[in-house]
Amino acid sequence: MTAAPPTLATKRLALRPYVAGDEALLHAIVADPRVYWWREAPGTEAESAAALRALLALGPRGLGWWHVHPLTDEARHLGAILLRPLPNTREVEVGWHFLPQARGHGYATEAGAAAIAYGFETLGLPRIACIVRTDNPRSRAVAGRLRLPRLGMRLHAGKLHDYFILERTEWLAGLRGRSAG
Ligand SMILES: CC(C)(COP(=O)(O)OP(=O)(O)OC[C@H]1O[C@@H](n2cnc3c(N)ncnc32)[C@H](O)[C@@H]1OP(=O)(O)O)[C@@H](O)C(=O)NCCC(=O)NCCS
Repeated sequence: MTAAPPTLATKRLALRPYVAGDEALLHAIVADPRVYWWREAPGTEAESAAALRALLALGPRGLGWWHVHPLTDEARHLGAILLRPLPNTREVEVGWHFLPQARGHGYATEAGAAAIAYGFETLGLPRIACIVRTDNPRSRAVAGRLRLPRLGMRLHAGKLHDYFILERTEWLAGLRGRSAG
């Protein structure tokens, strides 16, 4: 098990793990009603600071949130990717939150694929979950592009969600299939 989440890289993006001091970065995501659109009111800065402490506590398990930026420009904030325990399950979930100006470029799918690869290859997770509210077609489309198998529905925070589970064995078989052409 890793001591802290590493930085991950894709063709176009870097995923840099959140660190102490990233309160403003996190707040820019969770207090933006265009991103955390399901919230009735934007969270406060104090809530974001508490949320940062909570997610940093996942670091020793290799989990947490990642700041997603273009490979060559760390200051440009595109969004965030997360791997964290899914409440009331034994699973780790993958999630994506991108700022409106960073959508429509395939960044969420590209960063999500990197997080999934890290979860399986580095953390050795047996499976990765994903939950998406049924009224969130754009997020569901990301799950589709990542070929996450839909297991069924799940109640989360009082709302119905599509529940996806990707088994490590399925993911490895997909990789083998792709490399076989
Ligand atoms: C969910 C969310 C991350 C999806 O973002 P997104 O930009 O639509 O998803 P992707 O990054 O996969 O981008 C796919 C789009 O980029 C386009 N695209 C453009 N250039 C591309 C490229 N080089 N490679 C791949 N796709 C590209 C695709 O055609 C697709 O467009 P379309 O939706 O018009 O068909 C975003 O809507 C969001 O942050 N929503 C608010 C937070 C949220 O709901 N999070 C999920 C909670 S479960």
